[in-house]
Amino acid sequence: RAEVTAKSLALSEVMTKAGEYYKQQLRTAPQAIAYLKKRGLTGEIAARFGLGFSPDAWDGLRSVFTDYNIPALVEAGLVIDKSEEEGGGRKRYDRFRDRVMFPIRNTKGQVIGFGGRIMEQGEPKYLNSPETPLFQKGLELYGLFEARQAIREAGYVLVTEGYMDVVALAQMGFPQAVATLGTACTPTHVQKLLRQTDHVIFSFDGDSAGRRAARRALDACLPHANDDKVIKFLFLPKEHDPDSYIREFGTDAFEQEVRDAMPLSQFFMREMIGDNDLNTAEGRARTQFDAKPLLQAMQSSGMRLQLVRNLAQVTQTSPSEIEIMFELSQPV
Ligand code: UTP
Ligand code: MN
Ligand code: MN
Ligand code: MN
Ligand code: MN
Repeated sequence: RAEVTAKSLALSEVMTKAGEYYKQQLRTAPQAIAYLKKRGLTGEIAARFGLGFSPDAWDGLRSVFTDYNIPALVEAGLVIDKSEEEGGGRKRYDRFRDRVMFPIRNTKGQVIGFGGRIMEQGEPKYLNSPETPLFQKGLELYGLFEARQAIREAGYVLVTEGYMDVVALAQMGFPQAVATLGTACTPTHVQKLLRQTDHVIFSFDGDSAGRRAARRALDACLPHANDDKVIKFLFLPKEHDPDSYIREFGTDAFEQEVRDAMPLSQFFMREMIGDNDLNTAEGRARTQFDAKPLLQAMQSSGMRLQLVRNLAQVTQTSPSEIEIMFELSQPV
């Protein structure tokens, strides 16, 4: 029976139950099915990611949680409780209404949060679960549970910005993709990724936000850029994200972009030079100044030495001058 005598339910049980409900609701929601089809997704891929639908109702979850008043529903972020703030009117209501639901799973496969996409125009485009004891955005990667085996088989992971990028890439033959959930790539994300594979390819949106995200990822990666790791950056045309790109240009074109992805060392130099004029002492000094904290954050490694050499070359310095100036401890 679908009823739950809920006080005893752990947050994760509440989330699982809600995920089942949203999945069930998708079956009888032609507009949501049509939306997913319009975005090029098959029923098979929707099932693989456990996609669902939250009906256009204030208390849809009441049909699964007969005790709609349990605190766990509020703690899980599934229900919003207004009883404290406002006098009259509705006290509790479902957070997610009339949205396509993307369950976020932890590496054990338990549902820990949701992202809900609006189907028409409107704000916010994606509504996300709030942070809970189960769900901390800076730690989780959307799709990692689903992608783990594929990452092992492909030998690399693609890191994107969005839910749709992950699902569309899987649909189009790249199941080795995850997403950072709209937050910056954190050092914890990088550690998590490098536990799965030695080869990470960041593939953010081509717009300026995506470029900034790539820079943040570079900063987060440098402390972990050991010599047995390969880290690359795939830059798309500015009007595209991985989803729109692979739909417009196809699998082979995206595969080529993966092959052509920029190695970390090259992106590093490009970022450090930026707009600096290397024909002037000021421009060369500024380039060194910008590189200093990043190189200092790196462990002593062959990669750090290579970056130092590249920096030395473009700034008309010697590697040992840079090592002394930046107080980089000597490799042993
Ligand atoms: P984008 O705006 O690039 O959306 O945000 P998208 O993933 O390409 O979505 P579609 O293709 O329009 O459906 C990237 C990610 O940032 C987070 C989501 O994780 C989204 O996938 N985001 C974005 C939010 O959490 N809320 C928003 O309102 C927008
Ligand atoms: Mn590899
Ligand atoms: Mn974007
Ligand atoms: Mn996008
Ligand atoms: Mn998109």
